[in-house]
Amino acid sequence: MSDRIKDLEPNKQSKGYYSVKSKKIKLTRANKEYIDLILEDQTGEINGKVWDNVEHLNPTFDEGDIVYVEGFVETYNDKNQLRVQKIRKPYEDEVDPSTILPSAEESPEKMWSKLQELIKKNVKNPFLLELLKRLLNKYEKKLKVWPGARKVHHSYLGGLLEHTLAVTEISEFLSKKYDLDKDLTITGAILHDIGKLEEIKSPTKKEETEKGVLLGHIIIGVQILKEESERIIGFPEDLLNRLTHLVISHHGNYEFGAYQLPMTKEALALHFADFIDSQMNIFENILKNHTGDSIATDYDYRIGRKLFTGEKE
Ligand SMILES: [Fe+2]
Ligand SMILES: [Fe+2]
Repeated sequence: MSDRIKDLEPNKQSKGYYSVKSKKIKLTRANKEYIDLILEDQTGEINGKVWDNVEHLNPTFDEGDIVYVEGFVETYNDKNQLRVQKIRKPYEDEVDPSTILPSAEESPEKMWSKLQELIKKNVKNPFLLELLKRLLNKYEKKLKVWPGARKVHHSYLGGLLEHTLAVTEISEFLSKKYDLDKDLTITGAILHDIGKLEEIKSPTKKEETEKGVLLGHIIIGVQILKEESERIIGFPEDLLNRLTHLVISHHGNYEFGAYQLPMTKEALALHFADFIDSQMNIFENILKNHTGDSIATDYDYRIGRKLFTGEKE
């Protein structure tokens, strides 16, 4: 039995299986090393501290691992914190990772079929259809489990598909509202973050690949589009340029990693669809992980503010 993070109570012993979201060695004021952890399960996350035995315990687990933890729940700054007494990797078959790791609410199969529906409804251009078919075939397995990001937003199993679907749904609405090129907008929405599938090594470890570090998901995405479209006989160059423009401008401005500012209505729509979905997800994540009674969360570096939580019921 695993004590779920959401249900942990201060001043009590706890034990359970969690995933190591982040792991850092830090120094106490007395210059003694300790391990600073963020542990998570499907219900939330908690800060954990390993004060003792650091030298011995540190090499036994890594970021991204699932661990069995026994500890004592304390409160620090109005938040639960776990003083870790025992921590070890589970034995083979001791625990099913899918019951621990946070994942998208909707099942991958359901999201996948919604995405296929959106294509069917909106994409008529034969070249774009063929490109989508090939890439979705190629990446189906990965896309059904991949997280949206290592840390910033949708960083759980199935997060990338959830984000892709949401961005596509918002883009569909915007294409109707503003009479955009639907083929292009929907295809761009589905493929805008495809490079993320080669940016990290595995959906759980989230360790970056060489390409991920050196190129980043936008350039990787451009390469994927170019390579695959070259395999489709007669794929029009101008169509590839327009689609590529959506991918390289989707972060909206240079400061956030865009290589061009959005220069078409379709690119502008995709950028805002991407922006609102990633921001909403960050808001949701912060609110979900807020514990204690304060009416505001801690300051969050990702959005440069704290959030109002209102009265807690
Ligand atoms: Fe992106
Ligand atoms: Fe995105």
